[in-house]
Amino acid sequence: MVTFGGDFIFGAATASYQIEGGVDEDGRGPSIWDTFSHTPGKVVNGDTGDIACDHYHRWEEDLDALAELGVDAYRFSIAWPRIQADGAGHPLQAGLDFYSRLVDGLLERDITPFVTLYHWDLPQALEDRGGWLNRDTARRFADYAEIVARALGDRVGYWATLNEPWCAAMLGYANGEHAPGKKSGVAGLTASHHLNLAHGLGVQALRATVTGQVGLVVNYHQFEAADDSPEAIDAVARLDAVGNWLYTEPVLRGRYDPLTLEVTGEVTDWRFVQDGDLDLIHQPIDFLGLNYYSPTRVAGGHCPAQTVTPWVGVKDVTFLPPARPVTEMGWTIRPQGLTDLLVRVHQRYPEIDLLVAENGAAMPDAVAEDGAIHDADRIDYLTGHIGAVHAALDQGVPVKGYLCWSLMDNFEWSFGYSRRFGLIWVDYPTQKRTWKDSARWYQRFLSTRTL
Ligand code: FCB
Repeated sequence: MVTFGGDFIFGAATASYQIEGGVDEDGRGPSIWDTFSHTPGKVVNGDTGDIACDHYHRWEEDLDALAELGVDAYRFSIAWPRIQADGAGHPLQAGLDFYSRLVDGLLERDITPFVTLYHWDLPQALEDRGGWLNRDTARRFADYAEIVARALGDRVGYWATLNEPWCAAMLGYANGEHAPGKKSGVAGLTASHHLNLAHGLGVQALRATVTGQVGLVVNYHQFEAADDSPEAIDAVARLDAVGNWLYTEPVLRGRYDPLTLEVTGEVTDWRFVQDGDLDLIHQPIDFLGLNYYSPTRVAGGHCPAQTVTPWVGVKDVTFLPPARPVTEMGWTIRPQGLTDLLVRVHQRYPEIDLLVAENGAAMPDAVAEDGAIHDADRIDYLTGHIGAVHAALDQGVPVKGYLCWSLMDNFEWSFGYSRRFGLIWVDYPTQKRTWKDSARWYQRFLSTRTL
């Protein structure tokens, strides 16, 4: 039996484009995800976020559910195009008011608001000027951060500048699986650097105003060597360099790792890094959020670097098929991977507090004859992974919280509504919410904090 201390933060997470809907309301401008999801062939079944979970109108009901679950914190993201329709200039008051009501509604329910400023819904107008390939987007982001900080800065407990810059840059600009769907290695690296810069400038903007803690959320890949051969170990090191350290080395150490520069050397000379950028990126932060779902098994091998890949410049690496069991996403279920990830990130960056900002599973849920959703598989997944966090605490890793992805089923990016990650089932045609067994399990767990 393990018990978590009273100051450990448990919560649930969502993101604006995945739940809000209301895409044309109150002056909101289009984002790159509106454009992408409306482009035929980009999202499974042609699904879009036009309505999603209709959270823009049903937010009070959703906050009530969070209160009933008994969470300490709720992580949500702000849709930049609701604040600045075309990514620049005067803010839209209606957008700020929406999030202000949401923050107050959380505080009234004794839930700490955790804001993510950028969870991938870039204003389309900025993409039309190059998006994350244009360094000016980082300046625009800082302006937007300042606007939000002025409106909400006194009431939010945790601020994350960006969610998963690797996904935004590499899936968005290198392999094209996500919006805006560009396919170029050098674009992926350029976007990564500009996102890093946006993070640094965003931290500066937040620090000027906010009272809460400021950090960054990354999805660190837990690469596992398939064997202990030097080739497999070297493959892991090189993948880490472009999949992981590409973000935290500049943020926490003020440099790009020499191996990152070496692996990508045939793709770019990194001329997009200007004098002073690394100092701007290297701002003190209070926590590093890690999103973990699954490990990735790799071996060595002789193969050229691929052209359309998120692992820009990496050659001589073989990705092994996911080990079983897997979730509905086909992702290996391995709680130990979370402990290992927390331990190794802590070993590399011992000074920083860590927080699991997302963890959860898409499962083949179905509504049973009794009207319930008996997702014992998700309960197993959550039990295993929360236990894995405790194991990391036992090893001295300063993990401050755990946020489950996701409060409710939602628009799962290029998978549309075909994958369900929620604790709460959403019947999209009626928007009716039904608690899955896992939601009741999480509620019970939160009342004791004991596994
Ligand atoms: C993460 C995203 C989140 C969600 C989960 C399943 O990469 O941050 O929005 O889609 O994966």
